[in-house]
Amino acid sequence: MFDSFDEKLDFETNILNAGAYFRQSASHPEALPIHMSTAHNVEDLDGLQKRYDERGFCYNRNRNPNRSALIELMNYVEGGEDSLGCSSGMAAIASALITNSKAGDHILSDQTLYGETIEIFTDILAKYGVETTFIDFTDIAAVKANIKPNTSVLYTETVSNPLISVPNLQAIADIAHGNGAILIVDNTFMTGALVKPLQLGADLVVNSLTKFANGHSDAVCGAVTGKADLIKKIYHTQILVGTQADPFSAWLTMRGMRTLELRIKKQSENAAALAAALDQSPYVAKVYHPSLKDHPQHELAAKQFGQYFGGMLSIELPEDREKMNKFMRGLKLCHYAMTLGGYRTTMSYPVMSSHSDMTREERLAIGISDGLLRISVGIEGTNDLIKDFTDALEAAYGK
Ligand SMILES: Cc1ncc(COP(=O)(O)O)c(C=O)c1O
Repeated sequence: MFDSFDEKLDFETNILNAGAYFRQSASHPEALPIHMSTAHNVEDLDGLQKRYDERGFCYNRNRNPNRSALIELMNYVEGGEDSLGCSSGMAAIASALITNSKAGDHILSDQTLYGETIEIFTDILAKYGVETTFIDFTDIAAVKANIKPNTSVLYTETVSNPLISVPNLQAIADIAHGNGAILIVDNTFMTGALVKPLQLGADLVVNSLTKFANGHSDAVCGAVTGKADLIKKIYHTQILVGTQADPFSAWLTMRGMRTLELRIKKQSENAAALAAALDQSPYVAKVYHPSLKDHPQHELAAKQFGQYFGGMLSIELPEDREKMNKFMRGLKLCHYAMTLGGYRTTMSYPVMSSHSDMTREERLAIGISDGLLRISVGIEGTNDLIKDFTDALEAAYGK
C-alpha cells in the first residue's frame, strides 16, 4: 500500500498520497482521534475475510472506530451486552421499534412520553398495521388489563416527559415477559449513571445521548443497548436504514460522557433543591419532581433510583400568557431552549414543542395544562439558581 510521495511519480498522484502515512497512528494519543474515513483499506481478500470475522472496520455505515468506542462506553454505562450508536435519540427509538414489531402486532405504551415518540406509533407504525394502546404506566392494573395476546412490545420512559412520573420498571418487565413481549425503556432523563433499566428487567434501553449523556448541547446522538441477540437484529435495520451515529457526533458524545456522573449528580441535587424552593412559592401551583415527598411515586423512585432523582422537573404556573412571558424574560440564568440535559439550566414549553400536535383537550386529559413549564436543571451554584427563579417569579406575579 502506498502512503507517501515518490519523486518518480506525477504531481497528481503524489498529492493524493503524501502524508497519508500519519493515518497509521502508532503514537497512542491521549485523546481518541476522530475517524472520519468512510472506508478502511485491506491488504487482500484474506484480510477482508479477517475483518468480517473480527467485526473490524470496512465501511462507515456498518462500523467506525468512534462509534465502536461509544458502543463500548454505552455497554458499560447501561450494563448491556451490546449497543448501537445512532444518529439521534429518535433514530435509536425508531430502529428499536421497527425491528421489534410487525403487521398485526399490538404495542402497549405509556401515555406521557416524548411527543415525537408517540408519533412513531401513531404516524409510522400504524401505517404498517401495528396498533398501539396508550395508558398510564404508573397504573400497574391498567398495564395488566390492556395486554393482548399479540402484544409484542411494552414501551415507557424511566421518568416520563414532561410530567416526571415514575413507572415501576420491574413490575412492568414481569408483565411483559409473562406475555412473551419485550420491554423497551427510554432512559434519556436519568441515564445509566443513575439507573440501569436493563438490571430492572428491561430488554432494551434507548437513550437520546443529545441530552444529559453528552451534556454540552453540541451534538445530536442516540443509542440502543440490551441483549446481544436483540441488538444484532436492530443492527440489521440500522445498516439498511442508515441510522448510525456519525464519527464526530460519537466523538463529541463520548467526550461529554466522561463527566456524566459528576454532572448528573450535581444536576439532581440542584433540581431537588429548586423543586423544594418552588414548592414553597405562592406563585407556583404545582411542582413535579420525584424528590418531593408528595410526588405520587416518591417511594418507588427512592427505591428505583436511590438518592438521586434526576435533573428534570416541571412546574405549573397560572395559565396567563402575559405573566408567563414576564417570568421567562425575568430569568437570567435559565434560558429557553428546545432541548434538555445541558450543563446550563434551560426550560421548554411542552404545549408549543413536544406536545404541540395535540389539542388542548387531549393535553388536559393527560395532565398537561397551558401553564406547564419543563425545566432541565444545570450545574450552576444552587443558591444562584434558586434566587434566579424566585426573583423572576416575584417580578412577574408579585404585587
Ligand atoms: C425522552 C426523550 N427521548 C428521546 C428524545 C429524542 O432525542 P433526539 O432529539 O436526540 O432525537 C427526546 C428529545 O427531547 C427526549 O426528551
